[in-house]
Amino acid sequence: MAHQGEHNRMTDNNGGGGNAALLALEIEDLTVAYHSKPAIWDVDLTVPQGVLMALVGPNGAGKSTLIKAVLGLIPRAAGSVSVFGKPYERARDLVGYVPQRGSVDWDFPTTVLDVVTMGLYGGLGLLKRPGKRERELAMYALEQVSLQDFAGRQISQLSGGQQQRTFLARALVQDARLYLMDEPFAAVDAVTERAIVTILKELQHRQRTVVVVHHDLQTVTDYFDWTTLLNVEIVASGPTDTTFTEENLRKTYGGSIATVNAIAGGDS
Ligand SMILES: Nc1ncnc2c1ncn2[C@@H]1O[C@H](COP(=O)(O)OP(=O)(O)OP(=O)(O)O)[C@@H](O)[C@H]1O
Ligand SMILES: [Mg+2]
Repeated sequence: MAHQGEHNRMTDNNGGGGNAALLALEIEDLTVAYHSKPAIWDVDLTVPQGVLMALVGPNGAGKSTLIKAVLGLIPRAAGSVSVFGKPYERARDLVGYVPQRGSVDWDFPTTVLDVVTMGLYGGLGLLKRPGKRERELAMYALEQVSLQDFAGRQISQLSGGQQQRTFLARALVQDARLYLMDEPFAAVDAVTERAIVTILKELQHRQRTVVVVHHDLQTVTDYFDWTTLLNVEIVASGPTDTTFTEENLRKTYGGSIATVNAIAGGDS
């Protein structure tokens, strides 16, 4: 597909550092406000290419806001965003988005296959209708999320977990280099969760960068090699080993160590 074969390309965007890694995402001084109340404040964040990153923080921390601001879906009060060294507006074909489920109008009359095929439109151009090849790619993505039998179903007639998997399939057909997924694990059962984890690891194996808003602190260490903790401001960001610490969790979620242990599934 469009972007394969490009991922080993060297970059001249290393800012003078000898072997600075290519950044999938670079956010500087980003502030977003709703009705002049900041939802995220002065966020600086760099995400290296090829990481599988958890974006964690309490409800209302600004996780969805951060993702939407990267995608230009909501206005930025200040700051800049670049994707693989380009402004998002010039790199949008490289980015796949899985929205938070509650934020989507599921009554829209369309089939599962159509929604997934829409993931290809960026690559097809506006006037070209999807053909056999596009349908095959969409069906393949539906198989990866075990929804092949639902291709003709109206999306309004899906369960929550099936809706979630439909959006994941749509992102997969797009074959992006950076994926932004807002709570892909919400409302899915254990089997689907395993399937999604397998897909995420496969994407990482293919040098894709994946940013996942995640609420289940117990699985962060298992699933993600990179972690960003957010609560309006960035608390910490880096390799999960050194970033996903009790102290950083306490700064992010507040409360006592015992509380944080309880949410993180600690046993002390
Ligand atoms: N459209 C909006 N208008 C006004 N305020 C908003 C809007 N969207 C979000 N907010 C507020 O901005 C803050 C951040 O919201 P956001 O949805 O980014 O949080 P989140 O971290 O994704 O939370 P959750 O874990 O519940 O999904 C919250 O206080 C929320 O109430
Ligand atoms: Mg959210």
